[in-house]
Amino acid sequence: MLTQVVRKIFLTRSGNETACKQHNVASLNIPIRHFDFKFDKDELDSKFYFQTVLGSAYWQALSIFLTYGEDLVIETARFHRDLVIDPVLKQRVTSLIGQEAIHSKIHEEWNEILKDNRFPVTLYRFLADKVFDHIFLRFPQPMKLSLMAAIEHFTAVIAQHMMVNTDSSIMAMMDNPLTRTEDNKTMALWMWHMLEESEHKDIAYDVYQVLSGNYWLRVSGFVLALVTILGLVSLGGIMLPYLRSPRYLISRRYYNDVKDSLKLLVGRKYGVFGSNWHHVFDYLRRDFHPNDHDTTEYLEFYKKYLLDPEKGLLTPYFIKEFVPPLRTAAA
Ligand SMILES: [Fe+2]
Ligand SMILES: [Fe+2]
Repeated sequence: MLTQVVRKIFLTRSGNETACKQHNVASLNIPIRHFDFKFDKDELDSKFYFQTVLGSAYWQALSIFLTYGEDLVIETARFHRDLVIDPVLKQRVTSLIGQEAIHSKIHEEWNEILKDNRFPVTLYRFLADKVFDHIFLRFPQPMKLSLMAAIEHFTAVIAQHMMVNTDSSIMAMMDNPLTRTEDNKTMALWMWHMLEESEHKDIAYDVYQVLSGNYWLRVSGFVLALVTILGLVSLGGIMLPYLRSPRYLISRRYYNDVKDSLKLLVGRKYGVFGSNWHHVFDYLRRDFHPNDHDTTEYLEFYKKYLLDPEKGLLTPYFIKEFVPPLRTAAA
């Protein structure tokens, strides 16, 4: 009944019948890739991110919480896929759902080895369950749609940062014995995830624009995602080292780590958020579109670097990929 009401409202919006004009043609066919990383708790580098404790803790907290965000994206995308008429956008929504489902599954596997290494995964899952069950999952569908588009914006910002800073940070980190990690599986996990976040960055936004397009609702979703990803996840990251090992509270060495970590997270030069404020808030522009931030060349480079059949970082873990079929209205 509710679906029918929402369907009626959305179908009256002009534009739903036609393909969205802003598809990034280069990434129309988005594959759903399957991997098996075979994580091993003894191989985990708990300081994988530039050998910093707090810097890595942000990603570890994000990994625990993001599976909840991805499950919300999957549920919301499934609901709204039925309301989309354009077969190409429908097909792309299926790709989004498929990619996010595999992200969520594989991050859960990684979270399990975090748990085996005394990270407070059980506590964070308990807290995330409460927040999602009592707040986010109770939002009406249009709000969930807005939140989904905003979450995808933030992951696109992070992904672009990782790709654009390849020369100055990630590659340098991998070559530098002081910051290098031997934990190839963890690096592969995050680089694969970021590649795909950039690959599907426009899909949720296009669905939002086609089915709603309301500016202030979009701003509301953005504020919620901002509070969650920069506020709650950061708080989770800050608390994580202390919960894992209270000795960090009195460790002078740890506070030097905090300085380095903050440069990597919020520093104006290289910080994943600190150097990307403009991109983050560009979402508030009325005529914003994710493809205004073109990552086509970086994507091509990364696909080759990560998926090359002989030397790709992801190749040892790759199982298969497929592109969902395009179904026309008559099919
Ligand atoms: Fe994801
Ligand atoms: Fe995503």
